[in-house]
Amino acid sequence: MAGKKSIGIFDSGFGGLSVMKGILKELPQYDYVYLGDTARVPYGTRSKNTIYRFTRQAVDFLSQKNCGLIILACNTVSSEALWKIQHEYVPQKHGGEKVLGVLIPAIEEALKKTKNGKIGIMATNATVKSKAFFKKTKKIDSRMKIFQVACPALVPLIEAGRYNSPEMDEALRKYLKLLSGKEIDTLILGCTHYGIIEGKIRKIIGQRLSVISQSKIIAGKLKNYLDRHPEIEKSLRKNKRRVFYSTDPTDNFGNLGSKFLGEKIKVQKALL
Ligand code: DGL
Repeated sequence: MAGKKSIGIFDSGFGGLSVMKGILKELPQYDYVYLGDTARVPYGTRSKNTIYRFTRQAVDFLSQKNCGLIILACNTVSSEALWKIQHEYVPQKHGGEKVLGVLIPAIEEALKKTKNGKIGIMATNATVKSKAFFKKTKKIDSRMKIFQVACPALVPLIEAGRYNSPEMDEALRKYLKLLSGKEIDTLILGCTHYGIIEGKIRKIIGQRLSVISQSKIIAGKLKNYLDRHPEIEKSLRKNKRRVFYSTDPTDNFGNLGSKFLGEKIKVQKALL
């Protein structure tokens, strides 16, 4: 199978595993390389330039690991770096790799779900500040009303494995309160880490709202993309091989990752 490529999945840390879990369920036949930049997470508090620099390094790494299709399974990266990676960095420095983000799939799904045109978005500071969700949604349908809330406390708690802590409950209630009274009928979990605590979020907001979680939708969108691009599909290796890299491969990452994915994972050190 010389020349065949893997699918790379990149996140600042642990959150991209929520997207990978959905992808592995729907498309188990391919080879995957996961990279979490856990030594430098969270990205959500960093500047655009830094996020772009870290993303270039991640793309270089995944390209060296023979990934021909790279999913930036991080909203912060998709908001702040995707465009330049797709239009400048990869064409100039690399060439063949296809790089996909996670914002548009979530927006398209929210537009299908909303009935009153009021959409809430929970995301990191950087994603909210970039207004990427806001601009991209408005571009598709200018009638939409978008309410964003930055939730900086959530990623560090998730990375530490403290999903079920009182601090998590308190933080979620505080952030979701900021959306009450806005009459949203659809809520986008605009950070892949939040897919891991979707159950908790649903418990607080109740059944009335549609919740858009990339952990559920990216797999279907990827399948659709590969159906529309048979030349890319044919170039992918199909040995069901999964390799996990972290820039700080602690036991925590391996244990939480294994628990979350439901299979024992071995995490190797990535030097970016
Ligand atoms: N998982 C990432 C996202 O989707 C961000 C987490 C971070 O702040 O690093 O936005």
